[in-house]
Amino acid sequence: MRYSNELISWSSKFACGINLIDEQHKGLVKLVNEMFNHVTGNNIQENNYFNRVIKEAVDYIKVHFATEEKIMLATNFNGYAEHKKKHDCFVLAVVENIRDYRYGKRVSLYSFTKFLKEWVLTHIAVMDKQYFEYLRIIASRKANGKLSITSEDIASAHKYG
Ligand SMILES: [Fe+2]
Ligand SMILES: [Fe+2]
Repeated sequence: MRYSNELISWSSKFACGINLIDEQHKGLVKLVNEMFNHVTGNNIQENNYFNRVIKEAVDYIKVHFATEEKIMLATNFNGYAEHKKKHDCFVLAVVENIRDYRYGKRVSLYSFTKFLKEWVLTHIAVMDKQYFEYLRIIASRKANGKLSITSEDIASAHKYG
């Protein structure tokens, strides 16, 4: 693989403790790594791969964003609107990059994947971290220390927002 140094290894610093979210973030990391693994330098190969996986990749990202937004709304997280705006802007940027890739406008599979990687890592570290911390405040009241969002959490979350 040409860019093995670009691969992301999952680390606990990306985790929030909510299983559903952590699994989805692991899925995003896997997606980025798989894309890097298909950077061969051969345009035809790369195009075939890109066309085969890109729709599924975008759908995966959208499902993840929708999940986060649902949790943030349900728990009355006050950073919801700003966070959703970041998600929406990113989806638009991805669509634009896909268009540029297809029309050969200086976007290669490598640069596309690099853009995806940087956004995902920064977003988890900066934006997602904000609601991770909020969820931890809500969940810290649990006796077993496990994080999960229950209907009682949601019902009392506004007190902490
Ligand atoms: Fe996320
Ligand atoms: Fe997010």
